Amino acid sequence: MNNSYPQDQRDAIYRVIAERRDVRRGFRPDPVPADVLGRVLAAAHQAPSVGFSQPWDFIVITDRARRERIAALARRHAGEFAADLPGARARAFDQLKIESILDTPVNIVVSCDRTRGGRHTLGRHVQPQTAEFSSVLAVANLWLAARAEGLGVGWVSFFDERELAAELGLPAHLEVIAYLCVGYVTSFAAEPELQSSGWARRRPVSWAVHAEEFGHRGMPGEAPVDPLADLIAAITPPDAEAMAAAAERQDRMTKPRGSLGVLEDVSVRLAGLAGSCPPPLPEPACVAVFAADHGVHAQGVSPWPQEVTAQMVANFLAGGAVVNAFAAQAGAEVTVVDMGVAADLEPVPGLLPRKIARGTADFTEGPAMTRDQAVAALVTGAEIARDLVAAGNRCLVTGDMGIANTTASAALICAFTGADPAEATGRGTGIDAATYARKIDVVCRGLARHLPASAAPARTPAPDSPDSPDPSGLADPVGVLAAFGGFEHAALAGFILGAAALRVPVILDGVIAGAAALAAVALAPDAVAACFAGHRSAEPGHAVTLSYLGLRPLVDLGLRLGEGTGAVLALPLVQSAARALRDVATFDSAGVADKL
Ligand SMILES: Cc1cc2nc3c(=O)[nH]c(=O)nc-3n(C[C@H](O)[C@H](O)[C@H](O)COP(=O)(O)O)c2cc1C
Repeated sequence: MNNSYPQDQRDAIYRVIAERRDVRRGFRPDPVPADVLGRVLAAAHQAPSVGFSQPWDFIVITDRARRERIAALARRHAGEFAADLPGARARAFDQLKIESILDTPVNIVVSCDRTRGGRHTLGRHVQPQTAEFSSVLAVANLWLAARAEGLGVGWVSFFDERELAAELGLPAHLEVIAYLCVGYVTSFAAEPELQSSGWARRRPVSWAVHAEEFGHRGMPGEAPVDPLADLIAAITPPDAEAMAAAAERQDRMTKPRGSLGVLEDVSVRLAGLAGSCPPPLPEPACVAVFAADHGVHAQGVSPWPQEVTAQMVANFLAGGAVVNAFAAQAGAEVTVVDMGVAADLEPVPGLLPRKIARGTADFTEGPAMTRDQAVAALVTGAEIARDLVAAGNRCLVTGDMGIANTTASAALICAFTGADPAEATGRGTGIDAATYARKIDVVCRGLARHLPASAAPARTPAPDSPDSPDPSGLADPVGVLAAFGGFEHAALAGFILGAAALRVPVILDGVIAGAAALAAVALAPDAVAACFAGHRSAEPGHAVTLSYLGLRPLVDLGLRLGEGTGAVLALPLVQSAARALRDVATFDSAGVADKL
């Protein structure tokens, strides 16, 4: 028996779901008739609820003086939120409207009584939060019914819940779930305002659907997704037409030809990556600091104890590291990713817990990680890139933390470029001659163990050149990552691939990001188009890496800190290159005479 609705009614249901909007602008002052409001509230009251407990109440507010007091509460919290935002985000937030408490004729508060129905409420005893879930479903019903009635609804959550509860005279056992501003509107926007303003994007539904187990993505009826293969397939060459248009515009800009030097190339590359001239401004920007520990630390390659990795993660999260200072100056956000720190980290805002394992194994004794771990870290890095872009970022910046990770980087660089370990290994955080000699020996032993063929003479550059000899690393980049890499290297490689697939620029920090970029480019040669070398680190392997990748560093200040510091310093340069291409007048538009 077919219980489905007729097609036109199904269409109406899907239409109201698709066209429901959070509305903050364009409210009309007309009052909402009581019968309309009654229908909308009755729809809310038909929501499902845990154990049929119906924990909601609806407080209908029209009094102007009360709404003014409530609007003042929201303004205070919005101000506090704004004060905490990095530069470009703060400017964007300034343009957003986040509440319409006084612009709407009626406000409705949906509350929740967690105690309603008593202790035997079916389904609530293990999960008390199901009471709140039920009230949220009432909000959803209200929101959809309101859309069908032509009423806009805007949800405001910039409140201290108890402060608002006191203003509403809520008894202590009731909590506020939603504050809704309701009124007729001139029109409904086609997409969320946060999307049209560029604040955030809708994630494709395929990212949210998993088959049987988390991580096995795939829409019903479609073949299961191979995330790494899909990622690589999504990376295509830069847009030659946009690059040509950018180069041509640079020549017409009111300045002598070529006078912006390397920044002209940067602007052309940004245009090629975006496929448009001028390219979008690379802001807001987010630094992702990938942190992990390394088994090779046991070989005595660093004077620092391994615990420093976790301690520095805490420092990043507290805002006390150099990368935080530089990011604050450049107006970038800092996100820290635990890819494999050998300690349990407290969950705090700003930390993405993505631990693959508590540190890698010692690569002189066996592979640093399993192939599955390497793939998982790659995919995780790509997903982080994707989530940061969906959250509105238009420039990604690499950061890293991991005691002993310059040793793993040196091994990766040798494996991918054929460089000599003595040439690619540096002194990292600063080590004495004996430790330095040991570090080179460790790299040599690792290479001999995992890539015996790498004892062959140095290979030619161009990873994609058809005749490049391939005694080792390039044929199996995942194998090389697994052999030597840290979880942060693999995640960084995925992060770079993710940026390239989304055609968003990624500014690389020093030798660790460079080693990861070698892996990314070995997997997908066109990924190099998304990469901008923030700086040249003092680590010798970094220069080898940059010349192999054909990337020119933007800053060369002898930095050897890591964390993302060098890349963040280059952020304003990349942004300026894009802005010049966008904002500078051309000879024809400005009426300035060109050179004869
Ligand atoms: C729990 C919750 C709280 C929200 N709080 C606010 C808010 O304080 N201010 C605001 O402007 N929008 C708020 N929104 C609206 C969201 O920004 C909006 O739903 C989202 O951008 C998607 O847009 P759409 O609802 O038009 O599809 C909230 C939405 C939800 C579900």
